[in-house]
Amino acid sequence: MLNICPHRGAAICQGPVSGTTKQTDSREFVYERSGELVRCAWHGWEFDIRSGAFLVDPKIRARTFPVTVEDEKIFVHL
Ligand code: FES
Repeated sequence: MLNICPHRGAAICQGPVSGTTKQTDSREFVYERSGELVRCAWHGWEFDIRSGAFLVDPKIRARTFPVTVEDEKIFVHL
């Protein structure tokens, strides 16, 4: 993922990798998707790490790049 938030340009790496809360019909919030999201440290926008999609509006995306792992080496395809 490009380390620039599409909102106001913060370094996405400064935010935590996390999950998110999902509202249910029973007035509860359920924590889900642990480890699948990154939350921008500046204003809290949450992005799917794999796709870069902003959770609230998936049309907005952080830029992502394909990654492969070969012989314990990680390759980012730019
Ligand atoms: S700069 Fe990332 S949420 Fe605002």
